Amino acid sequence: MEREIKLYAVVKVYDEPEGLPSDEQILLQTAKNNLPNAYAPYSGFQVSAAILLENGAILVGTNHENAAYPMCLCAERVVLGAAHAQFPGIPIKTIAITVQNERNPVNQPAAPCGACRQVICETEHRYQQSIAIILQGETGEIYKFQSGKDLLPLAFDGNFL
Ligand code: THU
Repeated sequence: MEREIKLYAVVKVYDEPEGLPSDEQILLQTAKNNLPNAYAPYSGFQVSAAILLENGAILVGTNHENAAYPMCLCAERVVLGAAHAQFPGIPIKTIAITVQNERNPVNQPAAPCGACRQVICETEHRYQQSIAIILQGETGEIYKFQSGKDLLPLAFDGNFL
């Protein structure tokens, strides 16, 4: 006996940042403002992430590359690690992620890599609270997901352990 289950995600799409609630517009703009701080001399692909914590604090992170390529740090994990270190116990409400490619303009949302999705899901599990994810390229549509689970169906988490 075979049956199918469908795994799907709902994504809200906005043509302009003005379509987002004001706190999320500010978060996305904060990520964009911080893009020049990305250290991406090898790939030329700059990533900036800003997070809004439950206490209203906003933190930013960017990717940090290294001549030893596998050591490159993604912006999302940089900022989530900083949040855990600076605000332990405070849940994260929203993460806004934006990118810029020196060689090839990005006109569509760039979603976090698999490892960052896993870490976003771990943070949701830790605080038992969903993290909304807002994505925009240099220009173009904005995507908003309600949870890291939308980007990582069948996620592995601490419930298995
Ligand atoms: N990168 C991120 O910062 N976040 C992701 O989710 C995907 C990739 C960075 C790592 C590297 O510095 C550059 O983008 C190219 O892979």
